[in-house]
Amino acid sequence: MQTCCRSFLPLLALVGLMTAGCSPGPSDSETGDVHSFARPEVVRVVHMDLDWDVSFEDKVLEGTAVLHLKHHPDAVATQLHLDTMGLAVSLVESGTGGSFRETHWEYGEETPLMGRVLVVDLPDGADQVRISYRTSPDASGLQWLDPAQTAGGVHPFLYSQGQAILTRSWIPCQDSPGVRITFDASVRVPAALRAVMAARADGEDDEEDGKKVYRFTMEQPIPPYLLALAVGDLAFQEVSPRTGVWAEPSVVQSAAWEFADMEKMLQAAEGLYGPYSWGRYDILVLPPAFPFGGMENPRLTFATPTILAGDRSLVSLVAHELAHSWSGNLVTNATWSDFWLNEGFTTYITYRLLESLYGRERAEMEAMLGRQDLEEELATDLADKPGDQILYLDLTGRNPDDGMTHVAYEKGALFLRLLEETYGREVFDTFIKDWFQRHAFTSVTTADFRAFLDDQLINAHQPVEGRTTPNLDSWLYEPGLPMDAPVPQSRSLAMVDNTLDLFLAGGSVVDLPVQDWTTHQWLHFLRALPEELSMAQMAQMDDAFDFTGTGNSEILAEWIVVSLKQGYEGSDQRMEEFLMGMGRRKFLKPIYQELVKTPAGRERAREIYAKARPRYHSISQRTLDEIVQ
Ligand code: BES
Ligand code: ZN
Repeated sequence: MQTCCRSFLPLLALVGLMTAGCSPGPSDSETGDVHSFARPEVVRVVHMDLDWDVSFEDKVLEGTAVLHLKHHPDAVATQLHLDTMGLAVSLVESGTGGSFRETHWEYGEETPLMGRVLVVDLPDGADQVRISYRTSPDASGLQWLDPAQTAGGVHPFLYSQGQAILTRSWIPCQDSPGVRITFDASVRVPAALRAVMAARADGEDDEEDGKKVYRFTMEQPIPPYLLALAVGDLAFQEVSPRTGVWAEPSVVQSAAWEFADMEKMLQAAEGLYGPYSWGRYDILVLPPAFPFGGMENPRLTFATPTILAGDRSLVSLVAHELAHSWSGNLVTNATWSDFWLNEGFTTYITYRLLESLYGRERAEMEAMLGRQDLEEELATDLADKPGDQILYLDLTGRNPDDGMTHVAYEKGALFLRLLEETYGREVFDTFIKDWFQRHAFTSVTTADFRAFLDDQLINAHQPVEGRTTPNLDSWLYEPGLPMDAPVPQSRSLAMVDNTLDLFLAGGSVVDLPVQDWTTHQWLHFLRALPEELSMAQMAQMDDAFDFTGTGNSEILAEWIVVSLKQGYEGSDQRMEEFLMGMGRRKFLKPIYQELVKTPAGRERAREIYAKARPRYHSISQRTLDEIVQ
């Protein structure tokens, strides 16, 4: 039996917490989660009944959340501490045995990062709390899009983004990844629109007033950051009996074509790590304002339309979000310091799925590009931040979003790959499968993994011939990339290097052997270009390869950055369209960062950002506000 689950502490600790008084304040260190005011070790929310009316006029959700509580077996709590941000609470009732009456509550002090604690009195050992509330029109976890920001251009659109600590801006909850809840939800929307959630759809009812109510159930316990809702003009297309795509009607067909391999990916993952736990696996393609590539909301991944390249070349994102069904959603990082347990595992599994579906070479190309991303970030943005180069992060007082670097993703994946290479694939696959099975539906820390690693791998198996056990503590708790980090090997990318040499030696672009190049080879080519190129060379490449006109967002983003570095103006107009037309932070950030390096560029950045900022999600705004002042 593992001791990993964030379960109740011994009674002694509990009494200490309770006598710590009722003054609202940051969470106790015992919970380990410095990003939540909740005290789940005292009393735990285990289920929520959610009921909202969605108003596009006011840009608010209005309704109730009934929280079902589980008290500590040895002591009944007298107060419940919840995370909230910008919520207007009108009434709080406590319930015992199903009957409710008004109860006293108060807000703690507002903090910019974490919102404010809502402390609810629980008389007579109440086991339910009903909160009537409405969200703020600028709730950071909701984005309300005007019709002009959608593909159809006619209807508005709403979607939520919970990770990392934004669910509290639309649901009063114990917003910690160490807490798990099930839920039921009813969502009332204008009849022309459809609501979808990361949950099982339980039907819909027409109402007289031109509204429609959609009902949902999530039976598996999930951390609150995985709660997700979207409302818009949505259509569905099946990909296989248990997979499919939701998107605006004009997008859904091309999305279903692009994601044709969803079922195969699911089967490959099940083959490695055991049965898929969530029933269906669908993808919702959002309007381009979505700040991420993808978000692994259970049963319903949210995705950016910028991965619809028309040639299926960017589907590793699907593999990634689907892999989270095991690493993250089934076995969850207990705190945001343990974020690498979600993303490093997921990145490692993504490469395994790519290998299984498309062969070793494709997986190695993507892993190589991933390692380049990591090295680049370590050498630039993170160069003076040794703390951020560590897998296990100290995020005290910081936004957990700051931990979303290639360290968690690629250093984490390289660590797991090194363990695989050290103990052999067969042994390692069984070890990871066991990790998921033994910790299913729990939240885990880096220390939990370290202990399991010792028990089940290091002390139970011998390294393969010629290998020695890596320095685990250095990998987990020290900055930088250890010397024994694996180096992916790709022949296709080595060929690109040779071709680039030909070009730089004065070869004509039209003679270069690039006819069969894949997206990943082009990305490698663009990244490998030297710092100084002539404008003639830039123009030749653009003419020959039409980088500026490409429909592939990854190649376009890379090309725009190269153009800015070289001072090539041929892609300037396209850059503006790109910055105005989508809100994916991964693309926006490097472009704005490059722009502001020169006085003229800074002017250009300010001019575009002034127009584009209102269209971006609060998450992208927060990052870009710091870059474009
Ligand atoms: N869970 C993340 C997105 C995330 C991380 C949101 C932290 C908020 C805080 C998601 O699975 C992810 O990693 N998305 C990546 C794509 C992936 C292919 C690397 C992204 O959006 O860039
Ligand atoms: Zn991820």
